[in-house]
Amino acid sequence: MYEKSLVIVKPDGVQRSLVGTVLSRFEAAGLKIHAMKFQTVPAEQSKKHYSEHVEKAFYPTVEEYITSGPVLVFVLGGHNAIKKIRTMVGATEPASALPGTIRGDFAHQAYPAPGEPDVEPIRNLIHASATPDEAANEISIWFSEDELVEYSRDIDNQLSLKN
Ligand code: PPS
Repeated sequence: MYEKSLVIVKPDGVQRSLVGTVLSRFEAAGLKIHAMKFQTVPAEQSKKHYSEHVEKAFYPTVEEYITSGPVLVFVLGGHNAIKKIRTMVGATEPASALPGTIRGDFAHQAYPAPGEPDVEPIRNLIHASATPDEAANEISIWFSEDELVEYSRDIDNQLSLKN
């Protein structure tokens, strides 16, 4: 099924000049760009995006992280795109993300000193929608309907993609 997903290259990805590297992986996998924005994230936008987690103890660290600098936000489409993108992104915690995934290859985190607690927040470089409902909600938070661009590519016929 053709799906769309919301992806964010977080502030550490921008600071480390990994935007092009991340985008090129998705393009090489055949995923289609439908929308894109480079922006800073107001606290209110963070609260909307992470609304399920706002009450959790770790949320302040998440907000501090996502609002700390510009991010690249984009919508990708493709066949079973949500699963495909999440597989390419890897596990939430950088230390658990497998080599070959974006987080496994590029996300890194300061190691705590022996006996010290883990450093927060989880700096995992990238966000991607987890489910179709989450994707629809997140896309509506970041983009208006008229900012989503529908078009066809020659490769779509080769991949039998219909959107
Ligand atoms: S996921 O990827 O959405 O399934 O991950 P989940 O475990 O549900 O976590 C939701 C987001 O909260 C972030 N998170 C944390 N940040 C800081 N500290 C702790 N302990 C923590 N646990 C979860 C996690 O990075 C998810 O945000 P995204 O942007 O999806 O990475």
